[in-house]
Amino acid sequence: MARPLVADIDLDALRHNYALARELAGESQALAVIKADAYGHGAVACARALESLPQGKRPPAFAVACLEEAETLRRGGIESPVVLLEGIFEADELSRVEALGLWVAVHSEWQVQALLAYRPAEPIPVWLKVDSGMHRLGFSPEHAPAVWERLAAATEQVAGLQLMSHFATADAVNSSYFSRQLACMQALSRRLGAALCLSNSPATLAWPDSHGAWVRPGVMLYGSDPLEQPSEVSRRLRPVMTLRSEIIAVRDLAVGEPVGYAGRWRAPRPSRIAVVACGYGDGYDRHAVDGTPVLVAGQRTGLAGKVSMDMLTVDITDIPEADIGTEVVLWGRSRHGAVLSVDEVARYCDTISYTLLTGILPRVPRCYSRLD
Ligand SMILES: Cc1ncc(COP(=O)(O)O)c(C=O)c1O
Repeated sequence: MARPLVADIDLDALRHNYALARELAGESQALAVIKADAYGHGAVACARALESLPQGKRPPAFAVACLEEAETLRRGGIESPVVLLEGIFEADELSRVEALGLWVAVHSEWQVQALLAYRPAEPIPVWLKVDSGMHRLGFSPEHAPAVWERLAAATEQVAGLQLMSHFATADAVNSSYFSRQLACMQALSRRLGAALCLSNSPATLAWPDSHGAWVRPGVMLYGSDPLEQPSEVSRRLRPVMTLRSEIIAVRDLAVGEPVGYAGRWRAPRPSRIAVVACGYGDGYDRHAVDGTPVLVAGQRTGLAGKVSMDMLTVDITDIPEADIGTEVVLWGRSRHGAVLSVDEVARYCDTISYTLLTGILPRVPRCYSRLD
């Protein structure tokens, strides 16, 4: 019998979540952010599942972080436009950008110079990145109009010029900082007559005023709810990844007996402990505290003891039917129907769903649901 740990990827759920993003986007176009191997779900498989949607319902473009990620998509047969969200990292990459038909973000003066010095056969679609408050990448709002004019004049190199920016606080219920960033970008857009691409998942879900010409959702496509307070709409998201394993051994412990490294958990009553094939060597977070929720045979119980490299331990005292071979879901949907959200697990690990999803390591096989 093979090691039972797998990451089941529900491509129907991915399509459902993308359809929700499109519905919310209304008149705006909704690209799909599939960087970091589609947040750990497998970029080529996810892109294929979305690209095979009917015309008009599929993403008009995908977004990745770098050229290498775009090359993986092209090698996998993905033909849709792909935007490099951080643009090129070296001037040399422009020939590959052109050969692969990619779109680029431009956030720094050296990238502008490299682009203007390049002689493409066809102009390259360019998204000018503005730092409206994230203070990470982009031109300042004061400097951006001058850069815009230079790029707009470079008709040999630049096509489809538009503005992009990234929000720092779109997940918060009330954020005056969000409003400031939005107002800044709207003013720039009016001044330059420029189309806007601003909205990540929380802004796509909760801030329709920010949608502009394009929305740019990532994590919501994978069924994670990025909002500080879930909304009626965000509750419609469906988990795409189920991290599923099985019990491989069971221990009966007397009161006071410890479990695992450092004996962090001690039996408060006569207890049954399940050993589960999943550990930090698979990407499960070692910071998970005792009580971190787990579904055993579709029933909620909690982690008992520190996570090891290849195993973790769970209290099954109240699930008498659980035994060797019983299904354990670390997050996602149990075969018994119950759902454990990756967002909830993340809170017990003092982290966010993004790190849990992108953190699942290659030794965990991804098993894809079949599509028609
Ligand atoms: C520039 C940019 N746009 C869009 C996204 C998608 O964000 P989210 O996954 O929160 O929807 C990210 C995510 O890191 C990003 O860096």
